[in-house]
Amino acid sequence: MKSSVKIVEVGPRDGLQNEVKVVPTAMKLDLIERLAKAGLKNIEATSFVSPKWVPQMGDHIQMMSGLKRYPGVSYPVLTPNLKGFEAATQSGATEVAVFAAASETFSGRNINCSIAESLERFEPVMQSAQSLGIKVRGYVSCVAGCPYEGKVDPERVADVAGRLFNMGCYEVSLGDTIGIGTPVGVQKMLESVAKRVPVSALAGHYHDTYGMALMNIYASYQFGVRVFDSSVSGLGGCPYAKGASGNVATEDVVFLMNSLGANTGVDLEKLVDASAWISTLLNRVPNSKVTRAILAKRVPEALS
Ligand code: HMG
Ligand code: MG
Repeated sequence: MKSSVKIVEVGPRDGLQNEVKVVPTAMKLDLIERLAKAGLKNIEATSFVSPKWVPQMGDHIQMMSGLKRYPGVSYPVLTPNLKGFEAATQSGATEVAVFAAASETFSGRNINCSIAESLERFEPVMQSAQSLGIKVRGYVSCVAGCPYEGKVDPERVADVAGRLFNMGCYEVSLGDTIGIGTPVGVQKMLESVAKRVPVSALAGHYHDTYGMALMNIYASYQFGVRVFDSSVSGLGGCPYAKGASGNVATEDVVFLMNSLGANTGVDLEKLVDASAWISTLLNRVPNSKVTRAILAKRVPEALS
């Protein structure tokens, strides 16, 4: 039997949160619809954070009311605290994600509190989520390095990941926020984390700043990880990690998984269409080698 891999498409959130020009709500909704029609079943739609901090996500309520629902498609949203959680669930969110970091300085810059304070803020979110039957995913940022502190000890990553899992997160996504991780380092980090969280509950969230993301995915896949976050056309970065590039491109992950015989449920041609569409609207070349190769084969002169 074919093994299957869950892809969490984070382009509309992690990707677009970093655009300098505010992307119109209708365009974001159109992108999400194209991604759902390409077969993506988990699409991170927006975040309920402060619009003063991340203006790009300031249309979160309109986003939630504009989303077209498809059977089996989930639209998780980021919620840093109870205020965000309440606004998200009142807007119709059925899955949320809390986000912590393995670096104190990054935690302060990103969510204005220490790691311990962030975990305290998540407690009422977890309680409320449990009573409402809302699924909660947890993120750990800076699993391979921090833009302010440099090296991050895998034991710190394991500690935060373990706490998120123990407080009820059904999945813990390990974020290489600045894309500095390499396969051997990522496997070492996974070895530490796997002592606290079952591998089946882990996800790899790798940014591609140094071009290592796909290799880190392969290394994680060999370790047993079967959930990966990625962003259509490799959109994105992080507003609190200067110079960090987008996530690994979803097209490249799907191509890799197809080669491994792992089923993602994604139609690569439709995904490439979505990638080309958003890249044209954002006035850039798709940040996916797979998309560029497929487009060049379709219309050889298109990218010359
Ligand atoms: P704060 O200023 O410490 O919050 O921000 P506060 O509790 O002191 O409140 C200050 C103001 O913010 C108040 O409004 C609150 O009502 C408001 P005022 O009275 O001044 O008008 N406020 C909120 N507004 C909307 N939604 C909320 C909310 N909470 C308070 N949920 C806060 C704390 C977390 C809100 C802030 O730091 C923030 O919004 N940070 C943005 C973080 C963010 O979105 N970062 C990017 C996503 S994380 C990421 O990209 C990494 C990831 O991809 C994994 C990886 O790659 O590593 C996930
Ligand atoms: Mg990210």
